[in-house]
Amino acid sequence: MGRDVIVACDFSSADAVFSFLDRFGDVKPFVKIGMELYYAEGPAIVRELKRRGHRIFLDLKLHDIPNTVKKAMAVLSRLDVDMVNLHAGGAVPMMQAALEGLTREDGTRPILLAVTQLTSTDQETMERNLLIEKPMKDVVLHYAENAKKAGCDGVVCSPLEAGSVHEHLGQEFLTVTPGVRFRDGEIGDQKRVMTPADAKIAGSDYIVVGRPITAAPDPVAAYERCVREFV
Ligand code: C5P
Repeated sequence: MGRDVIVACDFSSADAVFSFLDRFGDVKPFVKIGMELYYAEGPAIVRELKRRGHRIFLDLKLHDIPNTVKKAMAVLSRLDVDMVNLHAGGAVPMMQAALEGLTREDGTRPILLAVTQLTSTDQETMERNLLIEKPMKDVVLHYAENAKKAGCDGVVCSPLEAGSVHEHLGQEFLTVTPGVRFRDGEIGDQKRVMTPADAKIAGSDYIVVGRPITAAPDPVAAYERCVREFV
């Protein structure tokens, strides 16, 4: 798969997502479904979006004991999603178990990504709350290294970290990056942002874009602008 734009469908109901995506007509963007929508609508929303022809990143960030994660991943894999994720904080045995669970009988499986440290966790929170005293950059790279060791395909990270992740872990190790804003757009609650064009230069493989598209007066034009700048 090459570079692509993933639209974060952060809506609270199936109806809201459908009326948003209906605006795109025959264009079928790669979409991200997060916890809110999945917990509200269940697996039916995934099946329906698949039926409509979308590729799906199911962003549920699993984190539990290896056996539980393995079984949960097997269920998600049967939904035929294209991309799933977990917390690298669950450690290598959990990530390996996830891969086992994800792998279908015919050997295929969704792309598995690891979340290193959440972007809502800063250095101070990490030190005081989690008692992790190393610099954030080292922690992120170490967790990414663990993810690669376990067999994950890549990480979710800031576009600002994409270059160093590729440098240390190779060009094939995927970087999927939220925190994308147009140069002339609103930043909102995101702190460290990049434009789609700069994320491309930084080496992101996929950008995850929510409000710059979902809240735009013309979401289809905003999506097409992202694709033009990034792909
Ligand atoms: O609206 P916005 O473009 O900020 O949406 C970004 C999406 O990426 C949201 O679904 C958000 O939850 C997700 N995300 C993020 N930062 C992370 C991980 C996920 O913004 N580190």
